[in-house]
Amino acid sequence: MTQADTIFKEFKEHSVAEFFKKNRQMLGYSGKIRSLTTIVHEYVTNALDACEEHGVLPEITVKVEQLGNDHYRVTVTDNGPGIPQSHIGKVFAQMLSGTKFHRFIQQRGQQGIGASGCTMYAQITTGKPIHVITSTGKGKVYEANVMIDVKKNSPLVTDEKEYDGDFTGTTVIGEFKDVQYQQSDKSPGEYVRRTALANPHAKITFIDPNKLKTVYERAVTVLPKKGVAAKPHPKGLEIDDLIEYAHHSKERTIKTFLVNTFDRMSAAKAKEIEELTSIDFQRKPDSISWKDAEEIVDAIKKTQFLAPSTAELRPIGESTIERSFLNVLEPEFHSIRTRKPAVYRGGVPFQVEVGMAYGGKAGRGNENGSTAEILRFANRAPLLFDGGGCAITKAVNSIDWKRYQLRNIETLPLSIFVNICSTYVPYTGAGKQAISDEDEVMKDLGLALMEVARDIKSYVTSERRKYEKHTKKLTLTKYIPEISRAVSELTGAKKEVLEANLLRIVNDKYENGGDEEAEEEAGEEQ
Ligand SMILES: Nc1ncnc2c1ncn2[C@@H]1O[C@H](COP(=O)(O)OP(=O)(O)O)[C@@H](O)[C@H]1O
Ligand SMILES: [Mg+2]
Repeated sequence: MTQADTIFKEFKEHSVAEFFKKNRQMLGYSGKIRSLTTIVHEYVTNALDACEEHGVLPEITVKVEQLGNDHYRVTVTDNGPGIPQSHIGKVFAQMLSGTKFHRFIQQRGQQGIGASGCTMYAQITTGKPIHVITSTGKGKVYEANVMIDVKKNSPLVTDEKEYDGDFTGTTVIGEFKDVQYQQSDKSPGEYVRRTALANPHAKITFIDPNKLKTVYERAVTVLPKKGVAAKPHPKGLEIDDLIEYAHHSKERTIKTFLVNTFDRMSAAKAKEIEELTSIDFQRKPDSISWKDAEEIVDAIKKTQFLAPSTAELRPIGESTIERSFLNVLEPEFHSIRTRKPAVYRGGVPFQVEVGMAYGGKAGRGNENGSTAEILRFANRAPLLFDGGGCAITKAVNSIDWKRYQLRNIETLPLSIFVNICSTYVPYTGAGKQAISDEDEVMKDLGLALMEVARDIKSYVTSERRKYEKHTKKLTLTKYIPEISRAVSELTGAKKEVLEANLLRIVNDKYENGGDEEAEEEAGEEQ
């Protein structure tokens, strides 16, 4: 045996499941608190996606039960389409097997690893399978235990049961160790609260480990516009993306492949690109080499394209966010802006929505009063972790709040809500909890925040004026008995009459009548 033979004897391919088992932090499994929230996130986003795709208003229940130290059971039930029996294994125990991989569509899930990731985490922390109960609404219910054969990235389905039942939807039950429930802004409870805020078309019930039940009622009864798959825009295309698309293409020539795969790619544009390269565009697309792809991507950089279509973006919308705020935050005042769609990296459409809610249940209460909170969302899914590195946090921190009369903003009962929607959200990493600070995204975030902050300023300053008047009135009222007594002694007038008159004057000035400001000014002139 040569030395090479000895070395390469150990050489073997690893399955994607094996890879993620070793790199589970990439899927959000790092730290006990985060891991539990990740599990809830995966099941809840799947439930919402499935209901929306099926065209039903989501009704979702999330239950977290404590079974021991760092040991919990998570149950998520939805009224979605259910999962055909033959697909249960693939959905919950085969990575990259979803229906959405490589679709440019504004949806929560995209990679087909969320559900299997949870199964894997259950299995490596407890050795137990996850349990699925599902029905596609044809009178039959399927139950099964599902595990994942990590070496082969293939499902092991056991204990299958089939019986009669009359519902449509899915329940997933998983047991996990190495997880922890903590009441904080990173807990599953908070995750559900924020999900409810950004998805007011869903009714969501949350039951925490103390059996405390919170129900977020539906605030709107229309489903979000259905996502449609968009073609990727040539700008923003990376070399390995191009190769991957090309090698999966069924087109006969590179030219038709380009025209039919990419947004805004006309035959004329394809010709322009061909002329900038040394490649014969009559060749088959799967013959594209790395060097060819490099040349094509270079040529695309030098070519002008129409901006990508933004029709497939699905913002929540100002009036829907407003309903949601009134439903969940019950604020004294709010202001909301949905910006027009824009494009980052020259080829990816996105849209920014910002809302601020002040007073009521806005902000986070603690023993010292309220604190402001930043509620970050990407395509309506809450982002609870890695806030520091996120474009949204940076944009909020870059605002000079003093200019908006919002001093010590962190002490105000204020919720700052930001949703970024895109067919391709620019996350900073595989954990998908922070958005990278693309110039165009930052600019739109800044503008939206400033517009909303201006509204809040008007409200807060007018409220502050009211408050100042109120305290002035209280101070003056406090001195009335003292002044009346003194004046009565000096003039002999009746103290009670003086008191009553003074009180009337103070009340008239600071309380009664319509436009207080005008009155005050008139009073000052006298
Ligand atoms: N609750 C559910 N109801 C119906 N289908 C589901 C449900 N959960 C998952 N699925 C299906 O399983 C697929 C894989 O889910 P997942 O691994 O989370 O990947 P992704 O959400 O990225 O597609 C989904 O694309 C969907 O087709
Ligand atoms: Mg998913």
